[in-house]
Amino acid sequence: MKPPLTLSDFPLAPTAAAPQFIHLDSDSSDRSDALQALSDGLSAEAARVSPKYFYNALGSKLFEAITGLAEYYPTRTEAAIFEASHAQIAAALAQRGLQNPCLIDLGAGNCAKAMALIPHLRPRQYVPVDISVDFLKDAAAQVQMSFPALDIVGVGMDFSAGLTLPPQVQSEDRVFFYPGSSLGNFRPDEALLFLSDMANPARGQARGLLLGIDLVKDPATLEAAYDDALGVTAAFNKNLLLNVNDALQSNFDLRQWRHVALFNAVQSRIEMHLEAVCELNVRWPGQQRRFSAGERIHTENSYKYTLDGMSTLLQLAGFRQIEHWTDSQQRFAVFWAAV
Ligand code: AVI
Repeated sequence: MKPPLTLSDFPLAPTAAAPQFIHLDSDSSDRSDALQALSDGLSAEAARVSPKYFYNALGSKLFEAITGLAEYYPTRTEAAIFEASHAQIAAALAQRGLQNPCLIDLGAGNCAKAMALIPHLRPRQYVPVDISVDFLKDAAAQVQMSFPALDIVGVGMDFSAGLTLPPQVQSEDRVFFYPGSSLGNFRPDEALLFLSDMANPARGQARGLLLGIDLVKDPATLEAAYDDALGVTAAFNKNLLLNVNDALQSNFDLRQWRHVALFNAVQSRIEMHLEAVCELNVRWPGQQRRFSAGERIHTENSYKYTLDGMSTLLQLAGFRQIEHWTDSQQRFAVFWAAV
């Protein structure tokens, strides 16, 4: 196996090439469907809003801050697993002939996780994908500065709606990189569909998947990770209402809501909610809703898996040759699964 590349193998050009960027904006009928779904969710007896509304520009920054919090162990635990296991991971890919994959980074955010892996996986193309377009553009430019010779195609899109990527993305040797336990934000049945789509030769065309997933553990550790002492996760949760106000022209007042995070052991998931602190009324064009004190809006689920549970899900989705790496406390796991 070739030694891993270092930064000096990617000499900084005087002016680094700008990455290509493709924004797959939803069309106006998709947008009106999304607004209808948002309005329906708010009007439902058990009110709900999709977690995609967390990720406006401020939300992406708040999430970045969450990943550095003492209580939020997933990011640093996952980084330590990658750091300790990158040679084995690269060997697992090489065994499948994936020495220079097309690395598709789903929910790339600030691209920090991929930046650490690129020298070891030596992708021939790097494709960061994220819904937060401006944030991603800046992040992709940073990656290009660090790796000027790397072919980068940034894609701004909501991939939860489907994995059809633009033609600029190579169809061969696609390795999906889905770190950070973002798969846990889908219900298990949705996660199965998403993974099956990825493995489908006519859809995601994956040759393999490198997945980071949070594991089941004691509720106190889990709840602290989603309700930090500094209140960053509370701000992240409440910022969703600002994003909803922008999208729907609604009049949520953030001071009337409090952040709630709890572990639902039956469903094996952390739930985040926003709870009305008093009786209140929210209006948006053509609609209004009264919330009584204590009534909640469900904003996110974050499912926690066992090692066996995740292996089974990957197999059901059509992946094979599944391997995993974990930390000494089995808090978090990284899976490699080939198609
Ligand atoms: C993006 N996702 C994996 C995070 C999680 O842990 O479910 C989102 C998050 N919500 C609150 N804190 C972090």
